[in-house]
Formats: sequence, C-alpha cells, structure tokens
Amino acid sequence: MATILDGKKIADMRLKILKEEIGGSGLNPRLATVIVGGDPASQMYVRMKHRACEQVGIGSVGKELPPDATTEQVLKTVTQLNSDTDINGILIQLPLPKHVDTERVIASVSPDKDVDGFHPFNLGLLFSGRPRFAPCTPKGIMTLLAEYEIEVAGTRAVVIGRSIDVGRPMSALLTNADATVTVCHSKTKDLANELNRADILISAIGKAHFITREMVRLGAVVIDVGINQLNGRLVGDVDFAAVKEIASAITPVPGGVGPMTIATLMENTYRAAIVRTCDTAW
Ligand SMILES: NC(=O)c1ccc[n+]([C@@H]2O[C@H](COP(=O)([O-])OP(=O)(O)OC[C@H]3O[C@@H](n4cnc5c(N)ncnc54)[C@H](OP(=O)(O)O)[C@@H]3O)[C@@H](O)[C@H]2O)c1
Repeated sequence: MATILDGKKIADMRLKILKEEIGGSGLNPRLATVIVGGDPASQMYVRMKHRACEQVGIGSVGKELPPDATTEQVLKTVTQLNSDTDINGILIQLPLPKHVDTERVIASVSPDKDVDGFHPFNLGLLFSGRPRFAPCTPKGIMTLLAEYEIEVAGTRAVVIGRSIDVGRPMSALLTNADATVTVCHSKTKDLANELNRADILISAIGKAHFITREMVRLGAVVIDVGINQLNGRLVGDVDFAAVKEIASAITPVPGGVGPMTIATLMENTYRAAIVRTCDTAW
C-alpha cells in the first residue's frame, strides 16, 4: 500500500514557514495577476492565488480584462506592471482567449517578475541547469519529493506530457536532479512499455484515469498532475484506487500537486522580492 504524498499538508507547512520569513524580512512582496475574460475555472484559480497571498503576507492586485481584450491591450497592462516598482511578481492566468497571442504576452513579462517561470529567458536558464524561476507545478513536485525524502538521483523518471508549463520543465528539473528522464506524449509508441520502466512516473496529460495499474511498475512513485472531471468529481490522470495498491508512493487528486503549485508561486514571489534587493540572491 502506497504512502500518500499529502501535498495539502506540505503546502500548508511551507506557507506557514514562508509567512514567518516574510514577516521578519522587512520586505513587502506583491503579486499582480492578469486575467482576460470570465472563464469560471480561471477565476477560481486566481481567487485561490490571491487567498494564498493573503495567508502569507504577500500583497496582491488583480487586473481583469474583458473577454474581447486585444493582444495589444494585454501587453499594455503587462508593460505597466513591469514598470511598477511596487510589484515583484506578475502572473498571467492561462489559457488566454484564442485571439490573444499568448507567446507574445508571456515574453513581455519582465524576466525578473516572471514568477510563473514561463518566460523563454527563465526556461533557458532552467534547461541550462541554472534555474532562477522554475514553473510552479514542476518545482512544487520536486519540493514534494524532497519533503518525503524520495531519492531522485539515479532513478529512471518518465514524464507523460510535454507542455511548457508542466511536462518540459518537469523533465529539466528531474534531469538537473540527476534522474534519467524519458518524456512521453501523444505520438509515443508503446506508451505502456515506457511507463512500466519508471521508478518515478509523472502524468500531466489531462485524461481521467488514463494511467491504469497495468502501466505502473511495482514500487514506483506516481505523481498525478492531471485535473479532470469524471461523473461530477475531480479526478487525476491516474486510476488512484487501483494504482495505490502497487505504487510505493502516490499523490491524490485533489490535495496532491495542486496545493504545491500555489505554495511554490508564493515562494517564487518572495524570491523575486529578495532578488530585487540583492543581485547575488540566486
Ligand atoms: N495540479 C496543478 O497544479 C496543475 C497545473 C497545471 C496543469 N494541471 C493539469 O495537468 C494536465 C496537463 O496540463 P498541461 O497544461 O500540461 O496540458 P496540455 O498542454 O494539454 O498537454 C498535455 C500533454 O499530454 C500529452 N498527451 C495527451 N494525450 C496523450 C496520450 N493519450 N498519450 C500520451 N500523451 C498524451 C500531449 O501530447 P502532445 O504534445 O503530443 O499533444 C501533451 O504533451 C491537465 O489536466 C491540467 O489541468 C494541473
């Protein structure tokens, strides 16, 4: 029976520590969120991020643009936030509406305020083995593994999904931590065979219960990034009930990776505030 990797508990613990650090730092970190349109899921995620800011003593400001806002309008908002010295971190809530050029918007965020770690400059640092702001979900997963003292170096890690926000940076962080990494995606042949070789299996595809017991090696550590609706319930990519019987450790959904993502965003924002005061803080 697997150890349940309790992301909620670890995130709460880290937020408590962060609150104390911020309180004693004399700094006033501030996060700005930018949301375009009224997608309910995006609105909920932004609210959760503002609540976490409040919890740890990070100031926050929300910029809401209408659903028909143009790329130029979004860029103008980001430019204003870039030059606002009271703001340390800028978060663009994704996905943006289809008509907005997401890549241009992400690239317009000052790399020093890019607490989501999606700017090509920060991704470049991550992939060259010198991460500055690593994307929050994969960085949160690395923290969770470390908190549970799960060895990464020398293991065979398999990541399913190659998105810029999860799969690709996850593979870079695991490589930086000396795992041997395979990245799978929709064109991977014989996926089950690839997954069966994993000591650490990380799924970020967004398909309910896609990962079955047969795909998982006995004793593997299974990290479920997926957030899916199934029969009115929130479930991950992994068939949790079946896979927990053979995994050595597994994250639940909800309560696994999600809370770690938000805690990491808070940590990145505080870091951004520190780095502004000290060029050598990295
Ligand atoms: N818990 C959190 O904090 C958190 C944060 C971010 C995302 N998420 C969740 O994680 C999931 C993935 O998010 P994302 O942004 O990475 O999604 P995404 O951009 O849609 O990427 C999905 C990836 O999965 C791959 N894929 C899809 N079907 C596959 C299949 N049948 N076999 C193998 N690979 C397959 C795709 O391959 P191709 O590249 O070939 O298309 C793609 O690389 C979603 O459920 C999302 O809601 C959770």
